[in-house]
Amino acid sequence: MKYALIFTLLSTPALAQEVDFTDPALIGFGEEVFTDFCMACHGEEALGGNGPDIQGAILSDVTQAIRGTDQMDPVELYEGEPEAVAAYLMSLAPKVAEIKLRLLAERQQGSK
Ligand code: HEC
Repeated sequence: MKYALIFTLLSTPALAQEVDFTDPALIGFGEEVFTDFCMACHGEEALGGNGPDIQGAILSDVTQAIRGTDQMDPVELYEGEPEAVAAYLMSLAPKVAEIKLRLLAERQQGSK
């Protein structure tokens, strides 16, 4: 059981790297997930409403936010849905997403 858990933790980032965030089918699915679970607060096209503008948010932003923050309750999504929402949000502001990915990569390199 312990080993299975460790395997899952190790294998998750590897899986995440294989996701094609530009896949139109994934983006379309992400838009549905966004509409169902996020739009009430983050507004149409994620431009903000009761919550902030989150266009361009990347997967790490999404996984962090759905665990819950000071002002955002946790949101339970099925496996694959966080990736889809991230793909949708990234598609709305690809330039912002690109910068976020670059900064994340730099931070990860710096922490090694
Ligand atoms: C009940 C309202 C509500 C819902 C539903 C909600 N959020 Fe949020 N979210 C917020 C608020 C308010 C904030 C800003 C305050 C904070 O970060 O604690 C926030 C912050 C965020 C942030 C961080 C923004 C930043 O400043 O970096 C992300 C990313 C995010 N939400 C994604 C999502 C996603 C994806 C969903 C749907 C799966 C979702 N949220 C659903 C209210 C909501």
